[in-house]
Amino acid sequence: MISLEKLTTYAKQTGFIYQGSELYGGLANTWDYGPLGSLLKNNIKKAWLKKFHDENRFNVLLDSSILMNSQVWIASGHVGGFSDPLTECKFCNTRHRADKLIEEHSHYTINPSAWTNQELHSYMMAEKVPCPNCGKVGWTEIKAFNLMFKTSQGVTESAGNTVYLRPETAQGIFINFKNIQRTTRRKVPFGVCQVGKSFRNEITPGNFIFRTREFEQMELEFFCKPGTELEWFDYWRKYCIDWLKGLGLKQENLEFHDHDPKELSHYSNATTDILYQFPWGFDELWGIASRTNFDLNAHQTQSKESLEYLDPETNERYLPYVIEPSVGVERLLMAFLTQAYEEEVLEDGQIREVLKIHPALAPYQVAVLPLIKKRHETKAVELLEIVSKFSQSTYDETQNIGKRYRRQDQIGTPLCLTVDDETLEHNTVTVRFRDTMLQEKVYINDLEAFIKKHTAF
Ligand code: GAP
Repeated sequence: MISLEKLTTYAKQTGFIYQGSELYGGLANTWDYGPLGSLLKNNIKKAWLKKFHDENRFNVLLDSSILMNSQVWIASGHVGGFSDPLTECKFCNTRHRADKLIEEHSHYTINPSAWTNQELHSYMMAEKVPCPNCGKVGWTEIKAFNLMFKTSQGVTESAGNTVYLRPETAQGIFINFKNIQRTTRRKVPFGVCQVGKSFRNEITPGNFIFRTREFEQMELEFFCKPGTELEWFDYWRKYCIDWLKGLGLKQENLEFHDHDPKELSHYSNATTDILYQFPWGFDELWGIASRTNFDLNAHQTQSKESLEYLDPETNERYLPYVIEPSVGVERLLMAFLTQAYEEEVLEDGQIREVLKIHPALAPYQVAVLPLIKKRHETKAVELLEIVSKFSQSTYDETQNIGKRYRRQDQIGTPLCLTVDDETLEHNTVTVRFRDTMLQEKVYINDLEAFIKKHTAF
């Protein structure tokens, strides 16, 4: 598997991901998605929406605000409790997450997520957990560090104007539950999908785009009748893993991590993480939680508005229970890139860099290449206009055809269409496949069906 260093270099050189604010010396742990990265991100979101919204009869879509009334975050518990345990090295003054240091020091045999600050500190001192920066052992008392970015709305800065950048998209769904149920006249069970930016002032961001302070989430809140939630939990668990496998993630790189019932959050009666084998080992890709009616209940109490659902069949009133699969777009992007990147040794000993990514995710599905620029350019540009109507396509006319194939292999384009003399005479193109490097003649009139067949998800 590609190393983290190599992935970072590859992503920058090809135009997937650049260092954020590079022109001004950068801003730590921020990343800008270049022409290829932004196409890949869009394709991941499209594929998620297709599966979780378009093809799922239960779900509807929402696009709620990033800025919300701060009561939302008081009710949800984020103002009071959305924090990580922060400690500082007494020698080099770098700041760290105590729970992560313990996990790493114990080689993930210890899960300290439910420990008190005192327990974390005592363990770190007794077990001589060293500072990852300077290697010495000396830690300050642990404090709860709230991860929400705070700002103020309007022209005056005062406590009454405080707003937070949302740390998850989920709460926008909970506070709109009644609106959505009423306007769509949906019966429980139904779900609400949302894709959007979230912000967390992480203490230790890192591992390239794995943990950042600004990221995009794709979340589903699925509302169901109390008592049926564990069946739905299994349904969504399978649905998520099938989607990942359908897009080419290999079984051996995926793992379920079911949370120990004794260590579940107080509001959850089942939680599982889908882990992916990143370059440093298995780590969280997707969280799936059965959240009971915790959030609806909290908003009902805080807002003093009933959020109960009236079951039209039984006339019962209840707060639906919720299953929540929540995944980050950037983590998925990193998983798809690491899985797909390969270096193949060819028969002549040359190395071919190839991104064997699912065609539906590839930044470009098709590249149009005139064999000889002078002779084939006009026809190739005409062809590009045709194929760009039904596929994401690009055009390249510089350097010899072999080098152009290699460039498209490197960025994952599954099909290259070469325009040559036969195109002028017989209206055919030479299609060259990324994975096998085999070639086939196809009539231009048949291209739409051909491309769809080879790139569909
Ligand atoms: N609403 C539930 C929720 O937000 P979470 O486990 O905190 O749950 C869900 O986050 C997913 O969002 C994670 O599994 C991960 O894919 C992504 N994510 C969370 N924090 C992130 C960060 N700092 N950087 C990138 N992705 C992040």
